[in-house]
Amino acid sequence: MESSQEQFGTTSSRVLVINHNLKVLDVEQREHQQIALHPGWNEHDPEAIYSNVVICLEEVSKRNNLSSQNVKAIGITNQRETVVAFDRETGKALYNAIVWNDKRTSDVVKQFSDKNNGNLDVYREVCGLPINTYFSAVKMRWLLDHVEAVRDAHEKGTLKLTSGKHILTDSSNASRTMLMDIHQLQWSDFMLGEFGIKKECLPEIRVSSSDNYGEISTIACVNGVQITGVIGDQQSACLGHLLKVGEVKNTYGTGCFILKNVGAKPVQSTHGLLTTLCYSLGEGQTYYALEGAVEVAGAAIQWAKSVGLLGAVKELESLCYSVDDCGDVYFVPAFNGIFSPYWRDDARGLMIGISLNTTKGHIARAILEAPCLRTAEVVTAMAKDSGYQVTKMNVDGGMSVNNFVLQSQADFTNVEIVRKKESEITGIGAAIAAGLKVGFWANIEEVEKKIEIDRSFKSDITESQRDKKLKRWQQAVERSLGFGW
Ligand code: G3P
Repeated sequence: MESSQEQFGTTSSRVLVINHNLKVLDVEQREHQQIALHPGWNEHDPEAIYSNVVICLEEVSKRNNLSSQNVKAIGITNQRETVVAFDRETGKALYNAIVWNDKRTSDVVKQFSDKNNGNLDVYREVCGLPINTYFSAVKMRWLLDHVEAVRDAHEKGTLKLTSGKHILTDSSNASRTMLMDIHQLQWSDFMLGEFGIKKECLPEIRVSSSDNYGEISTIACVNGVQITGVIGDQQSACLGHLLKVGEVKNTYGTGCFILKNVGAKPVQSTHGLLTTLCYSLGEGQTYYALEGAVEVAGAAIQWAKSVGLLGAVKELESLCYSVDDCGDVYFVPAFNGIFSPYWRDDARGLMIGISLNTTKGHIARAILEAPCLRTAEVVTAMAKDSGYQVTKMNVDGGMSVNNFVLQSQADFTNVEIVRKKESEITGIGAAIAAGLKVGFWANIEEVEKKIEIDRSFKSDITESQRDKKLKRWQQAVERSLGFGW
């Protein structure tokens, strides 16, 4: 378990070299800048991300003598919902990428809310999602309303919200836009009409994440290699865990995202979860998920480090264990609103319960317990939506290397938490999608034998201790709601 607790999809790009036994042989990573021009905004420079990916590919290629002769296929997994607008003729981005956690679109949300008499769930039946700043369609609308170059290209028909020779995406990424019909797995004319977006400027949707997505032709070290896997990062983690119907996973990255495989048909949520793709490997192998999106997990550690509240990440586990409990300190990291199951843009972060007895250990605990307590709320919503308790949860991502986090997760949910030996499960999912297409593995059963469990965590606290904890947390969350403007 060597992965750092600070490796998140949103803040960096990574290239992994994965072999036939699904072992990660090498990793290269580059961080990119989080550009926050105004409070609540978050942009990425798409050219910087692209050049980071190229650098990472070149580095691992040099170290491992990689070429089209020995690389069987490439799978890509990405942060979801983030939007980039390109001009088809010049290939140039017309504006920075607007990142999934960017809140600039609250006015767009308000317009749609007003239009629908305050009903933010009005499109759920078609696209599975509530109207919220999180999803791509509202960001696209903002670009069209505020960036002249994007509006002109949209009018001229040269706008692409993606780039390249093949203009393709997969159903898992498309399911995060609000523009895909969740039943048909194709762009919804109705939703495109609602948002005033032309279908021609969107990529074609390939239902299967394991398909021919093109061949690399501009990166010398891997020219000629096929891209045969494309999948959103949380769905990729589902595939990496080989999530079967009824099973649940949680990936702790910038945020943490809990997905339950609900089978071949979409299930609508009445408790604030999202209806989305779990993953598709083609005909007869398309699975839907109920998802609980938790906006902040590892991002809270990064923030706490940046303001000097916490030090080295590797010391966090011992710092948390330096005290017996959180000392009644709670930290709600709703920096920019709160997602599932509340969907409230007006929530703001708070730390509460501080006394003269509060130590650094208590603060560290409060920060690391927060995503686990948010996850417990999602697990409760999942049980309400499906009528079944969650009994087991597969975990991965940076923070899953931390035993304190996983023990807390087991305690707060009373769910068995299962960690795999390999922490890079998200990357492994993309490799599985890519490898299956080119016959690197014959089938999913062959892949399954190669994924090993590291250890599991079970609750160590009583029901009444858990109830008390969750009630206290609820009080803290309620105070965070309505604090933003
Ligand atoms: O939906 C946002 C998600 O894709 C971001 O992932 O790894 O940055 O938490 P991560």
